[in-house]
Amino acid sequence: MIKQYLEIKQQYPDTILFFRLGDFYEMFFDDARLASSELEIALTGRDGGGSERVPMCGFPYHAADGYIARLLAKRYRVAICEQVEDPASAKGIVRREVTRVITPGTVMEGHLLEEKQNNYLVSIAMDGSNYSFAMTDISTGVFMVSAFTGEKGRVRLTEELARLLPAEVLLPLSQAERLSEDLALAGSVTVSAYLDEAFDRLQALRELENQFGRDCPGNIKAPGFELIIPAAGALLKYLRDTQKRDLSHIRQLNYYHPGRFMLLDASTRRNLELTRALSDAPRRNTLLAVLDYTVTAMGGRLIRNWLEQPLLEKDEIMLRLDAVDELLQQMLMRNDLKDLLKGIYDLERLAGRISFGTINARDMIALKKSLGCLPDLQGLLEQCKATLLQDTGRDIDPMEDLRELLERAITDNPPLSLRDGGIIKTGFHTEVDRLRLVKQEGKTMLAGLEEQERARTGIKSLKVGFNKVFGYYIEVTRANLEQVPQDYQRKQTLANAERFITPELKEYEDLVLGAEDRLMQLEYQIFCEIRDQFTGAIQRLQATAAGVARADALYSLAEAAAGGRYARPGIDGDGELIIKDGRHPVLEQVLREKFVPNDTIMDNQKSRLVMITGPNMAGKSTYMRQVALLIMMAQSGSFVPAASAQIPLVDRIFTRVGAADDLATGQSTFMMEMNECRAIVQGATKRSLIIMDEVGRGTSTYDGISIARALVEYIHTRIGAKTLFSTHYHELTDLDQIEGIINYNVAVKEDGENIVFLRKVVAGKSDRSYGIHVARLAGLPDEIVKRATAVLRGLETGEGAVEAAACRESSHEKEAVALHEREQALIQKLRRLNVLSMTPLEALNQLYHLQQELKTDF
Ligand SMILES: Nc1ncnc2c1ncn2[C@@H]1O[C@H](COP(=O)(O)OP(=O)(O)OP(=O)(O)O)[C@@H](O)[C@H]1O
Ligand SMILES: [Mg+2]
Repeated sequence: MIKQYLEIKQQYPDTILFFRLGDFYEMFFDDARLASSELEIALTGRDGGGSERVPMCGFPYHAADGYIARLLAKRYRVAICEQVEDPASAKGIVRREVTRVITPGTVMEGHLLEEKQNNYLVSIAMDGSNYSFAMTDISTGVFMVSAFTGEKGRVRLTEELARLLPAEVLLPLSQAERLSEDLALAGSVTVSAYLDEAFDRLQALRELENQFGRDCPGNIKAPGFELIIPAAGALLKYLRDTQKRDLSHIRQLNYYHPGRFMLLDASTRRNLELTRALSDAPRRNTLLAVLDYTVTAMGGRLIRNWLEQPLLEKDEIMLRLDAVDELLQQMLMRNDLKDLLKGIYDLERLAGRISFGTINARDMIALKKSLGCLPDLQGLLEQCKATLLQDTGRDIDPMEDLRELLERAITDNPPLSLRDGGIIKTGFHTEVDRLRLVKQEGKTMLAGLEEQERARTGIKSLKVGFNKVFGYYIEVTRANLEQVPQDYQRKQTLANAERFITPELKEYEDLVLGAEDRLMQLEYQIFCEIRDQFTGAIQRLQATAAGVARADALYSLAEAAAGGRYARPGIDGDGELIIKDGRHPVLEQVLREKFVPNDTIMDNQKSRLVMITGPNMAGKSTYMRQVALLIMMAQSGSFVPAASAQIPLVDRIFTRVGAADDLATGQSTFMMEMNECRAIVQGATKRSLIIMDEVGRGTSTYDGISIARALVEYIHTRIGAKTLFSTHYHELTDLDQIEGIINYNVAVKEDGENIVFLRKVVAGKSDRSYGIHVARLAGLPDEIVKRATAVLRGLETGEGAVEAAACRESSHEKEAVALHEREQALIQKLRRLNVLSMTPLEALNQLYHLQQELKTDF
């Protein structure tokens, strides 16, 4: 057996091999060592014929899912090796085969997947400076291809990967190292280096024709289609290699052009916290969390895709906005829609499991219930006025014929297993009914036999029983053995009873068990036939799923708009950005205090580039992100948190914000900052939005000011992109002398020593940063705050007092400060004493200690 294991393992060297042994999956050798430490299961040994015992570990087969999930999360791949013949009839060692390899990108099981998130497997190949690209989510059946060509190909591809966050990336073996470096894949995703042959054009083309039909490649007229063949073909081959079965739910090869959507680079996605919060902030602090009211898993995945890919076509945006508008106005209809959606399960993934052959009878019931909701859903959508809602209604196909088939065929509460019968409803199939009758009769007869034999033998305690090894038997207790008749054959002896069989008993047994066996087989067969009917209807099912997802996503945006009192944005072709009383969609929900709304006006004449100054903590960063988020929302088809808004069509958003979270990349923070600035000035167009938050901060003041000024001038005169630029360098505020650059500041009110944050963005510049004030708020020791104030005063009056102040400090002054510090410590202690809860004696004690401390100190 170990020999068999080694042979199989040899074919799957880069996986952890789950080797089926009876009711267990076992791992051996290095796999066992690795798995035992990763999964925290005990390492044991097994005699393997050699001198040393073979390391081994394992777990019961039904616990496999949990372990697979844990290994996948750690980026391992798992090969499942099953017994492929019945051990009872096997001669010698049972034949075993790997039936499937599960990798992070090829997970099918619903419970191993994030419900509202796609699990993408991506394949990339490179030819000169062109990239061939394909991606799939096998749980839902999407299959998309694209090509990234030319000078900017690599950058665009990196951006696309940042959006998709694939679980696994497939690369040709000979290019794997270079590509994963170029695309910065290492560490962030499972990289699978795969056979170069698979990417070979001819091989790949054959795969494509196999999956999508002979004329499929010819059908696609998109430019660059030739280019996608290697990646797409290899992806299909990989799926076939690992899944080892038909993937008929992957039916459509969709070419897409990433330029159809607003481009967002990885750092902008991160900075704006679209779908993932920065660092370890809670998940609800994202734009997605604020807008996601979807009811179904499909809708959840779609709204995420919408937010990740804001649109660039005004007409397309309008279609969504019209639909959201109608659902927002029609509250009753919206509620009805929600109720209908509640009854619909994940049709996309159910379709996947149908073609994968892993669907069970309970899934079929879920499918039946879902289909049952569709006629009403369709009716509701078709009543709507908005074009997109009507179209969506038309996309939905209630598949009445198939639903009715399920209704007639499948029992209402079927078991999980497909092999144990109990699936098919009575009345659906005559042979099933007949066998059930036979089985029932046999059982009745067996019960009758018990009575008959009791009467015949006079043994009152005689029983007819059943077990898996011996089948049906007659049991007689030891005390009554003498009365056992001649024709009883002894089968088994227990402590205080004996078990017998009779020819008559065996006859009935054959009847019952025979019927049962045939029944189980027949029911399974009928189930498979029904499943095949659905396989034939996969396309209808997928189109319907897409319709439901869209209805759900639109519902979600309407619900968010209603709850958040959002306004419908106007989309302005002329490119003016006018927001009245805009709010930050996420912050306004998580903030305890009231969020202060702000206006934004950016036109192409007076205020194309806005310089924002204002004290630390005033709200500059918040304001700038808010503008970006509102644009993103509008172009995704969402209403926006504002009293009113006019949004220009923005082709890209760039953000350059703080650098704290880039430590991992190993670049110096300032280098990082400059790199991002380069990417911005290279990529931005007149139609882009640029957000620069305190650029130039990471170096000396004079370098910083110089770089910032040069950047602003360049962006303004050469690019002409709408730009928000925050800074603490007040020297830069004179840039407003240039036509089109304007100063804003976030207002504060001075109140004696304190300042009050008003959070209001107003015209004009601010001249102070109040950094020291924030330092005090943060609880920096008094001594530092006082000293900083003195230094600042020196700098401001231009007396060059910095060094002077430090030198002037006499030794006496230093001591005074030191004394002051120690006194402070004692005062603190005194302050913390809870005198009321002390006995007089304790109080006296404490007083004594404090005095002692003073004595030793001075
Ligand atoms: N419009 C607003 N209404 C209410 N609170 C706000 C508003 N804007 C910002 N805040 C609060 O002020 C805090 C600081 O805001 P923000 O980080 O934008 O300040 P900043 O001006 O960028 O400061 P720094 O110069 O130190 O970077 C936010 O975390 C938020 O709690
Ligand atoms: Mg800031």
